[in-house]
Amino acid sequence: AGSAPLKGRHILITAGPTHEPIDPVRYIANRSSGKQGFAIAAAAARSGARVTLVAGPVRLPTPPGVDRVDVETAREMLAAVEAALPADAAIMVAAVADWRTDTAAGQKLKKDGSGKPAPLTLVENPDILATLGRHAHRPRLLVGFAAETDKLTEYAQAKLQRKGADWIVANDVSGDVMGGDSNSVHIVTAAGVESWDHLPKDAVATRIIEKVAH
Ligand code: C5P
Repeated sequence: AGSAPLKGRHILITAGPTHEPIDPVRYIANRSSGKQGFAIAAAAARSGARVTLVAGPVRLPTPPGVDRVDVETAREMLAAVEAALPADAAIMVAAVADWRTDTAAGQKLKKDGSGKPAPLTLVENPDILATLGRHAHRPRLLVGFAAETDKLTEYAQAKLQRKGADWIVANDVSGDVMGGDSNSVHIVTAAGVESWDHLPKDAVATRIIEKVAH
């Protein structure tokens, strides 16, 4: 192993938000800086892995040695993830929008003076993590994230089952984690819960990759 414990492995990572267009100037999105996912991609590349990073719209530089695929929507993210298979491990860090509008308007929606807002019909987006969980080319190790403000590990255990993941990194977002540089995480697996100290996102990334390499 030495300094390149993941040499010869392909690690697939999603990061950032997705943007689901409403019209040419508006979109639905989750709050996500992409920092944690990019830090994990950087750590995986430092460990010698071949890294594919499927990134939603974020303003972050591509970490050295990482193959980056930029996407906008959840459906584009799913297509890019499936195109990148097979992978030895997949770490799904992206904050994918759960819903999109059924059709994106070709022109900017206008206030029509009636006081009634434009009606939007939402439809559910594909769940990328769950799709990989039951995929013919399911990566041997499948890791999801869960941002929660309460009942953290309880919800994470349920998510593990529902999505067919091996680990859920449960992220306590009740503080000011969003866009910040540190994170409080619990690693939830079938074997139990490992709680880590509040750490910089880079340190969380390094420890996750050490655990992947284990
Ligand atoms: O259900 P929830 O959004 O909390 O699940 C979070 C986990 O599922 C994250 O790993 C996220 O990247 C992944 N996810 C996904 N596709 C979705 C929604 C969530 O891959 N449409």
